[in-house]
Amino acid sequence: MRDDFMSLVAHELRTPLNTLYVETQLRQLQLERGDQQAFSPENLRAMIDRDGHQIRSMIRLISDMVDVSRIKSGRLSIRPEKTNLSQLLRRVVEGMTQQAQAAGCAIRLSIEEDVIGFWDEFRIEQVVINLLTNAYRYGCSKPVDVTLATRDDLAEICVRDQGMGIAEDAQQKIFEKFERLDATNIREGLGMGLYIAKQLVSAHDGEILVNSVPGEGAMFRVILPLHQSASTAGI
Ligand SMILES: Nc1ncnc2c1ncn2[C@@H]1O[C@H](COP(=O)(O)OP(=O)(O)OP(=O)(O)O)[C@@H](O)[C@H]1O
Ligand SMILES: [Mg+2]
Repeated sequence: MRDDFMSLVAHELRTPLNTLYVETQLRQLQLERGDQQAFSPENLRAMIDRDGHQIRSMIRLISDMVDVSRIKSGRLSIRPEKTNLSQLLRRVVEGMTQQAQAAGCAIRLSIEEDVIGFWDEFRIEQVVINLLTNAYRYGCSKPVDVTLATRDDLAEICVRDQGMGIAEDAQQKIFEKFERLDATNIREGLGMGLYIAKQLVSAHDGEILVNSVPGEGAMFRVILPLHQSASTAGI
């Protein structure tokens, strides 16, 4: 199992690393040739964007690996603090708009204001980023709707796409480690996102649920308690 994991990660790291290496080779060649135009401000900006993209995907891969190994050894902990979930969602969506647009996807927001509770901001952000990345990765370039609402003692974040959807018999499997569905046919990602998301939501005494009609899209709901429980308060 561990060897499989290591070879998967190594394989996934090789792609962005190779791309960066090829880029540096090309730049060296251009420098040697005295090709000034290749380093015009405009070209430099585009280079930095491309490099940033490759570097971010390597960082994400490594952080996911660290999380998976923490989960395995029971060392994944959360640090809940007073958090404004409405602000958090706006910030995350704003930060991802460009990426989503590149995938041809519009994100529509409908947020209840000032939903405040005790959560680990960084970890909830990570859950939302995972769900949004999936929504535009598997969402067939259709709009994605993000909503936030409260009821009783709960806050509920909902991310809904109109993409390929998930077959009923696969709807629980996707929360397992390295589970990817063949039908999606997208050669990106390792299948760690939802596994980590589920562990993080559970650590908050919350729940993550999926509803989907294949061909019509998928809806993921993250339900979090609004008030601190003994376990999330670390008591
Ligand atoms: N919104 C969605 N619509 C359709 N299928 C989905 C959706 N979200 C997840 N899936 C399916 O569930 C699988 C597991 O998702 P998960 O986020 O855990 O992994 P991943 O996206 O493949 O890789 P990673 O998140 O590690 O980059 C995906 O490979 C895909 O087959
Ligand atoms: Mg994912």
